[in-house]
Amino acid sequence: MTALPPGSTIGILGSGQLGRMLALAAARLGLRTHIYGTDIDDPAMQVAHAHTISDWSDLRALARFGSECDVITYEWESIPVAAVEAAAKGRTVAPNIRALQTAQDRLIEKTFLRDTGLRTADFAAVDSEQGLRDALQSMGGRGVLKTRRGGYDGKGQAMIRSDDDLTAAWERLGGVPLILESLIEFSREVSVVAARGADGQVAAYPLTENEHRHHILHSSHAPASGDDGSAGEAARTILDALDYVGVMGVEFFDTPDGLLVNEIAPRVHNSGHWTQDAGCTDQFEQHIRAVAGWPLGSAAPKRAVVMTNLIGDDVDDWDTLARGPNTHLHLYGKADIRPGRKMGHVNRVG
Ligand SMILES: Nc1ncnc2c1ncn2[C@@H]1O[C@H](COP(=O)(O)OP(=O)(O)O)[C@@H](O)[C@H]1O
Ligand SMILES: [Mg+2]
Repeated sequence: MTALPPGSTIGILGSGQLGRMLALAAARLGLRTHIYGTDIDDPAMQVAHAHTISDWSDLRALARFGSECDVITYEWESIPVAAVEAAAKGRTVAPNIRALQTAQDRLIEKTFLRDTGLRTADFAAVDSEQGLRDALQSMGGRGVLKTRRGGYDGKGQAMIRSDDDLTAAWERLGGVPLILESLIEFSREVSVVAARGADGQVAAYPLTENEHRHHILHSSHAPASGDDGSAGEAARTILDALDYVGVMGVEFFDTPDGLLVNEIAPRVHNSGHWTQDAGCTDQFEQHIRAVAGWPLGSAAPKRAVVMTNLIGDDVDDWDTLARGPNTHLHLYGKADIRPGRKMGHVNRVG
């Protein structure tokens, strides 16, 4: 792919905060963005050069949107593949559709990861209560039941440690395709955000340690201690295997036996927001560089950063946070504050 010159238009499917920060990064490089989403009030709409407002089944609007873009990317992994295909019509989609399909289904994702030789939790497809019972027994009676598709921030999951849990989990989640995973006793959760350019060059940011609260990412510390490079190598294996172009987030469980891959996100990732204030190329610019066919920037941070999400009414403290020394405030422009809603984040440096 030849590099898109400044003035080119990057089409972004999805209009949340990730799309917003991608559009801002593109603007810094003199590139235009055209956002496709369903609501004019969404975060990305406020900062883009152009937008299309329609739903994900409007194939004509998607095709028109695509015809106005030089390359197409996405910021949300639950976008219907048919919508991406309607927008693409011969244009480059980066990351490619195979990466999207792999990440959209936890069974396909885990099978792919295992086939690349990486380690994951044990897993089994579950389509019936008896099937769940059998799979659970093979995993020592404990596991995490998840919907194969559509889950995020811990939604669509149930922890099972007993027979009662099993019945409750099946009642709550049964009826859609499911996957059971063995319950991993991890010492911590870590992630790596990495990019692969159109020329196959890979740049991985250092290991990041993540703390979740109520199943939502609360904070990320980077660089994390104990980085032996294996997470970055795992990310490279995944990116190469998918012939991936763009930024990906890879989540791991750190265990006494080493790292297990939990899941991949075919997009910029919340655990990479710290890169915005670390003195390296931030993940949003890196993604734009990759999909525009530009060389990747440096993924080596100059300073340590702690990123904390502002969830729900945490954002009411914006004026105090704005005064904090070494504190960089990022707000997403969302009008309605709701519990559990990601409203912004702060990066504390040093
Ligand atoms: N197999 C597992 N063993 C132990 N904990 C798990 C397992 N799978 C998920 N979890 C916990 O649930 C959280 C959310 O699960 P994840 O698969 O990352 O889904 P998502 O982030 O899409 O909601 C993880 O960050 C981890 O804390
Ligand atoms: Mg996750």
